[in-house]
Amino acid sequence: MGKALVIAFLGMTAALALGSGVVSAAEMGVPRGAELLGTYCSGCHRSHDGVFDRISSIRKTPEGWTMTLFRMRQVHAVVLDDGVRDEIVRYLSDTQGLAPSEAAAGRFALERRPNAKDLDAGEEINGMCGRCHSLARSALQRRDEVEWRKLAHTHAGQWPSVEYSASGRDRPWWKIASGPLPAVLAARYPFDTQAWSAWRSRSPADLSGNWIVVGHVPGGRDFYGRALLEAEAAGEYQGHYDLTEVGGRAIAGVTKALVYTGYEWRGSAEIGGRNVREVYAVSEDGNRITGRWFDPEHSEDGGEWTAVRDTGVSTVLAILPQAIRAGETAALTVVGTGLDKVTAALSIGGGVKVSDIHRTPVALTASVSVPKEAPTQRVRVAVGAAEHSLVLYTAVDAVSVLPSYGIARVGGGRVAPVTAQFEAIGTARLPDGEEVSLGPVRAEWASAPFDTEAARTEDEKFAGHFDQRGRFYPSGAGPNPLREFSGNNVGNLKVIARIRDGARDLEGAGHLIVTVQRWNTPPIY
Ligand code: HEC
Ligand code: HEC
Repeated sequence: MGKALVIAFLGMTAALALGSGVVSAAEMGVPRGAELLGTYCSGCHRSHDGVFDRISSIRKTPEGWTMTLFRMRQVHAVVLDDGVRDEIVRYLSDTQGLAPSEAAAGRFALERRPNAKDLDAGEEINGMCGRCHSLARSALQRRDEVEWRKLAHTHAGQWPSVEYSASGRDRPWWKIASGPLPAVLAARYPFDTQAWSAWRSRSPADLSGNWIVVGHVPGGRDFYGRALLEAEAAGEYQGHYDLTEVGGRAIAGVTKALVYTGYEWRGSAEIGGRNVREVYAVSEDGNRITGRWFDPEHSEDGGEWTAVRDTGVSTVLAILPQAIRAGETAALTVVGTGLDKVTAALSIGGGVKVSDIHRTPVALTASVSVPKEAPTQRVRVAVGAAEHSLVLYTAVDAVSVLPSYGIARVGGGRVAPVTAQFEAIGTARLPDGEEVSLGPVRAEWASAPFDTEAARTEDEKFAGHFDQRGRFYPSGAGPNPLREFSGNNVGNLKVIARIRDGARDLEGAGHLIVTVQRWNTPPIY
């Protein structure tokens, strides 16, 4: 009998036992998740009093549990229906998750931020564990020394070439991984923590109600608006979004989300006709939801999200744009809570003139004129007691490119290309020399060979092109007969953002590597 059949058979006997007049675990008050572990996992993972070998002695994020169940399926033939799998992931994330403070450092990986810099877990762990996948993958788990050692065994057992992969021959990898390293990992990422026991004893915040939202779209128009969240069941929400692009159109949206571990918001939304995956974290006090949304098929294409509970108390959440040039008249949007209830005028320092104020419950828009002679400065923007700051500037003093180091991947066929989005960020200098950010500025985008070798192999000609909003589109994958040795369309490029500021030309530079496909895109890279 094949492995898969054994599992199916084990599952069936358990199901039969439940149906045969025996009191089910649910009737005895055992949560459904625990019952499913008994049904689907106990065939291989021995259990005593609800404690399962291996399973009960590790804590992971929802994505971490999903990856483990994927391996149980791929490697150990544990085939689960989607509903069963989802239920088990929920149960394990709720009962054996990470506290918000424990997940904080690795959030960039859960949010699938492109071009994020990996964690620094110290020389020893970096060198041992950061060469095949992100260090966030380890930092998002909690185990004791015994379990970290077992994980080293899993690595060597399932990927016997582990010692030789990724330049692994620079050290006796296995000797370290199975010897002293598990204690180091257990000290850094221990199973039992004060943070987790404190978090587990709290009841999850009820997120239903009105929220004010501000979103950033790299290379595009930012948005703001309102979210109305309704609880459908414990930890399950549906939401309606009523958003507005800055200076532009209204965008409606709906979402359905699960909140794992009391704070890990994972939503599937449709916003302005586009499917979006939401990976957000709810703050410990339950009044703020922040994170990243992205295209489910192209996780590099996404942006920021901040939602703040509308308590009616007047606060300013954001000012868009964050800087205005001396001598200019601009439309200013002040996003916040309770702004329609404040009767006080919008007042801005630095001699800025305000007119055409328009109030909605989530924002106040106005036309503002900055005097020609205003020096570069930070001024106070106040609506009643609610305050924020705005930068007035005379000239852009420098432009920088974000990210300073980006990666795009050639594609086509079964693996789609991965684009890279850059932003040009302007800065100005205050009279005392301090640099203040002006936020994203419009730039013209170009590339150049990064070095003489890239110039010789004409990378610029083959690797791809920029669009007007700073997004680099890589070329198709595969051998290119027009290139030296029929090479792939990879490239090593300097990214150039040019802006014209009055009579001056300014330039910011970054670095872009256009490389080959990733064939494997697990939930935690
Ligand atoms: C067919 C046998 C089998 C079944 C059924 C099975 N597992 Fe496993 N599981 C294994 C083996 C073998 C390992 C050790 C090797 C590994 O980690 O892949 C393991 C390891 C694990 C680990 C430790 C992995 C780590 O993080 O290092 C977890 C957690 C786990 N299983 C969860 C589950 C859950 C949950 C179920 C039920 C849905 C399940 N397993 C069902 C065979 C099984
Ligand atoms: C040679 C490449 C390589 C090295 C080096 C490596 N890993 Fe992995 N690791 C993998 C692969 C491949 C997987 C995919 C496992 C899966 O199927 O989910 C993985 C998975 C993991 C997981 C998720 C497994 C689970 O079920 O929860 C963790 C955690 C992890 N590695 C931590 C480490 C740590 C800690 C080290 C250093 C001791 C390390 N890795 C070194 C290749 C590597």
